[in-house]
Amino acid sequence: MFYLTTAIDYTNGAPHIGHAYEKVLADVIIRYRRLRGEEAYFLTGVDQHGQKVQQTADKEGVHPATFVKRTTKQFLNLWEKLGVHYDGWAETTDARHKACVQAILSELQQRGQLYKKAHSGYYSVRQEQFLQERDRDEHGNFGPQWGEVTMIEEENWYFRLSEHTAWLKSVIEHNPELITPAFRRAELLNALDRSAGTDLCISRPKERLRWGIELPFDANFVTYVWFDALINYISFAGYHAAADAGLPDFARLWNVGGSRCTHLIGKDILVPAHGIYWLCMLHAMGFTEAQLPRLLVHGFWNSKGGDKLSKSTGNIVDPNELADKFGVDAVRYYLVRDIVTGKDSDFDLERLIMLFNTELANELGNLCNRALNMSQRFTAGILRHGAPLTPDEQALQASLADSSAAYQAAMDECDIARGLEAISRHVVYCNGYAERMKPWELNKDPVNQDRLASVLYHLAESVAHAAVLLSPVLPDAAAKLAAQLNLPDLTTLKLADLHWGLLPDGHLIGKPKPVFPRIVLEEPAAS
Ligand code: ME8
Ligand code: MG
Repeated sequence: MFYLTTAIDYTNGAPHIGHAYEKVLADVIIRYRRLRGEEAYFLTGVDQHGQKVQQTADKEGVHPATFVKRTTKQFLNLWEKLGVHYDGWAETTDARHKACVQAILSELQQRGQLYKKAHSGYYSVRQEQFLQERDRDEHGNFGPQWGEVTMIEEENWYFRLSEHTAWLKSVIEHNPELITPAFRRAELLNALDRSAGTDLCISRPKERLRWGIELPFDANFVTYVWFDALINYISFAGYHAAADAGLPDFARLWNVGGSRCTHLIGKDILVPAHGIYWLCMLHAMGFTEAQLPRLLVHGFWNSKGGDKLSKSTGNIVDPNELADKFGVDAVRYYLVRDIVTGKDSDFDLERLIMLFNTELANELGNLCNRALNMSQRFTAGILRHGAPLTPDEQALQASLADSSAAYQAAMDECDIARGLEAISRHVVYCNGYAERMKPWELNKDPVNQDRLASVLYHLAESVAHAAVLLSPVLPDAAAKLAAQLNLPDLTTLKLADLHWGLLPDGHLIGKPKPVFPRIVLEEPAAS
């Protein structure tokens, strides 16, 4: 079982392009694992508690529950629009989640993992955390990234994080596969050294924050939003759940057969939330080294010039608008094509249009059109095997084999950009082959009938493979291509079925209908 989760998105605002990237990437990874023949489960959802939500709701004069219902709907609608198909949906106001968080808190309390103490210090409302001296900049100030910072003195509950960090450090040193990419693992090990000795404040007094999960043993407090949110990965996987809760069987999802659950997260929430708090929380709950999840850390989409694409800089690309304007295929394709998993990239509309028009509309669109159109016109749509292979066909088959192997190697490492490049390479090869073989010339003399049939078959067979390989990224477009080729339902085809000869001798293919219409921008008005 391949169990993949994403970060759950804050519902204090509308979804942005970073949210869309992470969910599309997760969707692509899940669809690819299924294409490999694995059983896979995809959990995503929304983070609904916390001070930011309470503040925004207060500002708008609505109850936080009403407010998060509204923003949650925006996320749900976007995932539907973008074809993000998840199996489990996590909302942290869900009663089943609350019950699980409270059960865990009670257990940790009984095991002496929690204690109460008074603390005074600087608090960042934006980041919902107490600040340390090391958070000051070179001028001794707390920078703008912390938002409003206030001095707070209050009693709170603490989790004995410091009892687990030495264990965690050695686990991460001995299990390199736990954190990818590798440079993030180094970053986490450094952070672990710096944080040694500090415990984690896991409560907020109700006078300050009402909107959270009440501590089961102290009704004056609610649970710190991160402690609550991180637990979604197990609460919605059925941990501590009643059999009739409508949740998965935890033992079946979590670390089955030594395959670790994968958490897909952005680089800003590795340290300290996932890399330190969460792994230590799991250890305190009794999870063993072998039962820890793997953290797959992706990079950020920045606006051109390197700024953060965040609300605070006013620089948000609205994924809804993009999908309406350029289509879902163009958005999904761009989001995983123009970024290396783990690295950052600049969001660039011109590149979105260029990549769609070049690789899909021109190269793949042209290949499909040629293969189907000429087969219809020259051989009544019937594909024929059997003509002796010339070196040209052998080379084409070798190109497909190379591209498919490169695709699989890249996709196995969640490097979607390199996987798509591999498909594109073969598509470009095929268009070059068509230009050299000139089926339209071959058709002029009946003596070339077998050669012509063989060329058209090689083109059509290549389109069939490309459709299957592309299906994790562009499921709808791939299904349309498959339908035109009269291929079986793509969800029944697995990577292992992709041998040469997918389209059998005598196969009748359908008529071409353009699947990737070129994006044409309206001319800017003359000035
Ligand atoms: O951090 N590019 O929620 P969030 C790529 N609720 N990814 C980005 C991004 C960008 N420009 N901006 C944000 C939270 N992300 C918490 C998570 S998990 C138990 C709780 C990613 O809405 C970010 O890294 O701020 C995170 O993985 C996800 O979007 C949600 O961010
Ligand atoms: Mg964030």
